Amino acid sequence: MSEATADTLSDFGRAVRDGLDQVRKTIPARYFYDLRGSKLFEEITALPEYYPTRTETALLEDHADDLGRLAGRGRSVIEFGAGSATKTPLLLAATGATTYVPVDISGDFLAQSVADLARSHPALRIVPVVGDFSKPMDLPALPRPLTGFFPGSTIGNFDHRSAVDLLRSFRETLGVDARLVIGIDTRKNARLLEAAYDDDAGITAAFNLNLLERINRELGGTIPVDAFEHRAAWNEDQGRVEMHLVATREISFNAAGRRFSMRRGETIHTENSYKYTLSEARLLARASGWEPVAFWSDPDEMFGLHVWVATGDGPRP
Ligand code: AVI
Repeated sequence: MSEATADTLSDFGRAVRDGLDQVRKTIPARYFYDLRGSKLFEEITALPEYYPTRTETALLEDHADDLGRLAGRGRSVIEFGAGSATKTPLLLAATGATTYVPVDISGDFLAQSVADLARSHPALRIVPVVGDFSKPMDLPALPRPLTGFFPGSTIGNFDHRSAVDLLRSFRETLGVDARLVIGIDTRKNARLLEAAYDDDAGITAAFNLNLLERINRELGGTIPVDAFEHRAAWNEDQGRVEMHLVATREISFNAAGRRFSMRRGETIHTENSYKYTLSEARLLARASGWEPVAFWSDPDEMFGLHVWVATGDGPRP
């Protein structure tokens, strides 16, 4: 596409056009995940510096018995996101779930992960739902009550207000007697945090820069990608790791039907990854209609796995 107009622009196109128009340029992190971005993210999860995936996986394994008891046995499990090849089977085994409902906006991604899971779990009833889980949604008829699963500290990619809205929306979608198993990354030493988002092999840099390549591929962009550098920095006041793309020289380019200029040193803010202390995570639960009932962490407190129960159901009939 070279002549993008307001009418023909996709959601991605509008987000890029509007985000680059700001004084502080920004593009929402959800646009990282085209096919190449999703593959690079898979590579990130296996990096030595990126502790969240292996730490959360170990917590799911080590606490399977308690997890099964507290998250509710034999319930339907609703995963917000298409599911992970390693973490989803661990939760399903721990809870003895007979029905599994992955919810994802990308039908293709969902189809792939459902096919993989169906092969390894022939007796499991899998009910994929293509939809935007950021809004309350009607689920198909399922054995209730329901247990939600939201691993990987994806909640960290939402600012505090949006995180509360999202968790309230989960509460509404899951209904009476719901439970939620949620992974939340912890606040820690800035050096460890920055290394996790700026690995030596340069995979996270490639993941960040792929956003510019995606703009060039899909939105008629002429961005000189070699004029940008990846930056990851811990922002102590905001409690988040920020990722930026930094222009290393003065440039002008086309994207999404507009012309943009950037000064040397100017950045495009591409991601926030908020980190939570245990008490901040508990506040987040209580602000969103949930009550924390269990929390596990590793000895170095690198990552937290939480179980919450829905509050405010009132007396049941
Ligand atoms: C998906 N999300 C929880 C990851 C994170 O840690 O914020 C995305 C990511 N960005 C850079 N590395 C990983």
